[in-house]
Amino acid sequence: MAEHIPVLSDEILYYLGPKGNRVYVDCTLGAGGHTLAILGKCESCFVLAFEVDPIALSVAERKIFWMGYERRVRIFNESYVNLLEKIEEAGFERVDGIIADLGLSSLQLVDVNRGFSYLHDSPLDMRMDPSGNVTAWDVVNRYPEFKLYEIIKKYGEEPFAKKIARNIVLNRPINTTFELVEVIRKSIPPKALRTRKRHFATRTFQAIRIEVNQELANIQKLMEASEKALKPGGRIGVISFHSLEDRIVKNFFRSSKCLKPLTKKPVTPTYEEIRRNPRSRSAKLRVAERSEVIE
Ligand SMILES: C[S@@+](CC[C@H](N)C(=O)[O-])C[C@H]1O[C@@H](n2cnc3c(N)ncnc32)[C@H](O)[C@@H]1O
Repeated sequence: MAEHIPVLSDEILYYLGPKGNRVYVDCTLGAGGHTLAILGKCESCFVLAFEVDPIALSVAERKIFWMGYERRVRIFNESYVNLLEKIEEAGFERVDGIIADLGLSSLQLVDVNRGFSYLHDSPLDMRMDPSGNVTAWDVVNRYPEFKLYEIIKKYGEEPFAKKIARNIVLNRPINTTFELVEVIRKSIPPKALRTRKRHFATRTFQAIRIEVNQELANIQKLMEASEKALKPGGRIGVISFHSLEDRIVKNFFRSSKCLKPLTKKPVTPTYEEIRRNPRSRSAKLRVAERSEVIE
């Protein structure tokens, strides 16, 4: 199984500065990278962690046990959108820090049963939460053409969204990732296929994944919940991997009455980190602090 290397971990520790009996929320536990970093940095900190994917959760859980940190973590197999109610359930009023590392983990990307990657032939699933109601198959085979177009255009920022949506509808049923890749390939002019920097299916796959997992709506809900969940002086750090996510975070921090941005520009990985972990290359971290007094 592929190892997931945590992204911008030193920067997260720098901004969150975990110390003495503080409580942190890791909204996206994944393989446990950031949670382990916090617990390793501070012996008396406590982490509440959220993860919708039970496979990732069990990988992280094993590492946490292995390190002997299990008494300082509570893991919820739930969406981070339930943050406020779970903080209360765990017996806390507010927390000192929140981190969210959005997107997929490497474990999910390489799992041939999940359908996240255009490089493996898999059933069209793409659910991070396997109990979710909507799969990529539903989006591809059931959505009307105009809705597919909107999703691929908006979430994928794909210039050939119209043609791709049309061809998807004409080629139904589409059952596997490779069948979908072929439809996308036929929808993009040969010149554009040759000159694209990234794989021609990247944008459409990203768009469908965002729709299946309601990723942008969830980020918005997280932003709203974080205002209420953080103690005064508490901090939130969000690592995003594409411009739509980053825009939601940036705009929310700008307009919030009680979250003050600490990073004017997003923090990006160093050259050295990108060399070690190429997956980190598009990561952007924004951090804000909950002000003492609400203006
Ligand atoms: C990029 S990975 C996190 C990796 C982790 N920070 C680490 O270093 O190992 C993102 C994780 O968030 C999970 N996730 C996505 N949306 C979620 C949600 N709404 N609630 C909880 N977990 C979510 C995904 O299943 C995935 O495992």
